[in-house]
Amino acid sequence: MTKPRIGIIISTTRQGRFGERVAGWVAEQAAARQDFETEIVDLRDFPLPFFDAVASPAYVPIETPEARKWANKIAELDGYVFITAEYNHAISGVLKNAMDYLYAEPNRKPAAFVGYGAVGGARAVEQLRLIAIELDIVPLKKAVHINMEPLIGMLREGKDFADYPYLAPTVTTMLDELSWYAHTLRAGRQSAERDAA
Ligand SMILES: Cc1cc2nc3c(=O)[nH]c(=O)nc-3n(C[C@H](O)[C@H](O)[C@H](O)COP(=O)(O)O)c2cc1C
Repeated sequence: MTKPRIGIIISTTRQGRFGERVAGWVAEQAAARQDFETEIVDLRDFPLPFFDAVASPAYVPIETPEARKWANKIAELDGYVFITAEYNHAISGVLKNAMDYLYAEPNRKPAAFVGYGAVGGARAVEQLRLIAIELDIVPLKKAVHINMEPLIGMLREGKDFADYPYLAPTVTTMLDELSWYAHTLRAGRQSAERDAA
């Protein structure tokens, strides 16, 4: 059986973003694992206009090439790690816009969260969990929060993740949980597809 494939989603696109460093750090730890495969999914590679379709993709599929490219990528994955900043106590606008383009593709798949910001991106992560539920994604409790001290240290003082060794074990715990859900939910989806056939 093939391994589940997990997308590590970089959800900010601005120049000089920190999200890219966080994603690389998580991807490096994930690459050492045997229980699933990962790939970076960078929203810069999926530029989408502001959502202006006639209806939600729940009712009317959006068939523009850029929308299909994004939705197909999400559909081919078995789970997600959202790397999320906090912009004005919320997720980035570019991530919310991208989420609005989805409907069926992430259903019954798990999502884990890595937040960064003054309070570890906690407010953005909580909002993202709510959005996930509406898209029938299974949002996980185990998360990684990179708060003010390491964020400032890495942004302004030339430090790196290795200077904050308490962070890496939280990634392991999160990925362990994500793995369980990715395997379990994939088996459930496959079983449901067999029953429906
Ligand atoms: C538009 C904007 C709004 C921000 N709002 C918050 C905020 O509400 N809470 C917070 O902790 N940090 C906030 N920040 C600071 C970010 O945590 C910090 O800039 C972080 O590096 C942003 O992620 P990025 O580098 O991947 O874009 C904000 C940054 C930007 C650009």
